Amino acid sequence: MAALPKPVAVGVIGCGTISDIYFSQMAKFPNLRLVACADIIEERAAIKAAEYGMRALTVEALLAEPEIELVVNLTIPSQHAPVNLAALTAGKSIYCEKPLALASADCQRILDLAKQSHLLVGNAPDTFLGGGLQTGRQYLDAGGVGQPIQAVASFQSSGPEGWHPQPDFYFAPGGGPMFDMGPYYLTALVMLLGPVRRVGGLTKITHAERTIGAGPRKGERIPVTTPTHIAGVLEFASGAMGTIVTSFDTHARYRPTLEITGTEGTLRLPDPNTFGGPLYRDQPGEQEWQTLAVPFGYTTNSRGLGVADLASALRRGRSPRASGALGAHVVEIMEAFGASANTNRLITLTTTCERPAPMVADAEPYHIAD
Ligand SMILES: NC(=O)c1ccc[n+]([C@@H]2O[C@H](COP(=O)([O-])OP(=O)(O)OC[C@H]3O[C@@H](n4cnc5c(N)ncnc54)[C@H](O)[C@@H]3O)[C@@H](O)[C@H]2O)c1
Repeated sequence: MAALPKPVAVGVIGCGTISDIYFSQMAKFPNLRLVACADIIEERAAIKAAEYGMRALTVEALLAEPEIELVVNLTIPSQHAPVNLAALTAGKSIYCEKPLALASADCQRILDLAKQSHLLVGNAPDTFLGGGLQTGRQYLDAGGVGQPIQAVASFQSSGPEGWHPQPDFYFAPGGGPMFDMGPYYLTALVMLLGPVRRVGGLTKITHAERTIGAGPRKGERIPVTTPTHIAGVLEFASGAMGTIVTSFDTHARYRPTLEITGTEGTLRLPDPNTFGGPLYRDQPGEQEWQTLAVPFGYTTNSRGLGVADLASALRRGRSPRASGALGAHVVEIMEAFGASANTNRLITLTTTCERPAPMVADAEPYHIAD
């Protein structure tokens, strides 16, 4: 058996809520080696370093550490662009939590700098690499629904202020349900149906204020300064059409999270914020929805799979599946819903991306299909 290439040395910036699943999952991939972590709140980095067996460094020291090849950016969304740019400037490839940046112009800066510097950019979510959505892709590619005609995507909730102790950022520009949850749905749709050509949107703020329902600020009212109900239409380059609703304003009981209908049937996909199934198909002549088997791996929470795929891409000289170009395309789509609503017109997108390569059924953690 051929010797495996040297594992990619990883530094993590941002040691908050989501970092535990990354640390625990990344440790399972033999092509990743956790070297150090950093946080502006240095004691957070110290705690994670002790727990997962790495060095705690300041952000500056982590970026200056020569052995680190890849920086995983798990900071809050407003810090994604500055931390991504700082890491690229320091000569590191990056993998960033969603979204890649809060504005398309920043995404472009990130992609340009990476290209000039011959570095790779990866971007969450990586749930689309999981067994559930990969099964959906295989089914579509095999013609399961015939020619895709429409996609329906929906994330509807009454908002996070009831349980989140510091929910302000969800209701400020850069937050809202589209930038928070849209990346899961839109990344899945681009993986399944290819890039988007045109977008239209309507947006709304239903409640001018929200009341915090948990923690020390319980009862405090906070202002809402970003849309909390966004309805969009999408035209894919393939000619298929899509609709998407993301909301923090609704108490919808029936929520089709993701469905694709074509000339010969419908595919109901799992929640794209998860890695597994179930998936169902509905075809002419069948009385009930049929459950599809999920033959692929990575069906439990495997956050970090996209990092491992990017590390494999670094060693093999290929593009990562959860790529920066895909992340930038998704940011432009999300931005365009607002631009369309504000200007009363459809927006033709300026970005596009490759449809990410499928995973294969027998993929091993290190041998993520090339
Ligand atoms: N919490 C979740 O369930 C969840 C799920 C999926 C994705 N995400 C994404 O993960 C990212 C992080 O979310 P979180 O919930 O862990 O947030 P968090 O606020 O719990 O943690 C973020 C951490 O980043 C640190 N930080 C902020 N700016 C920094 C900077 N400039 N340099 C260094 N450290 C900095 C903060 O001190 C904090 O410890 C976000 O992009 C979010 O969208 C979160």
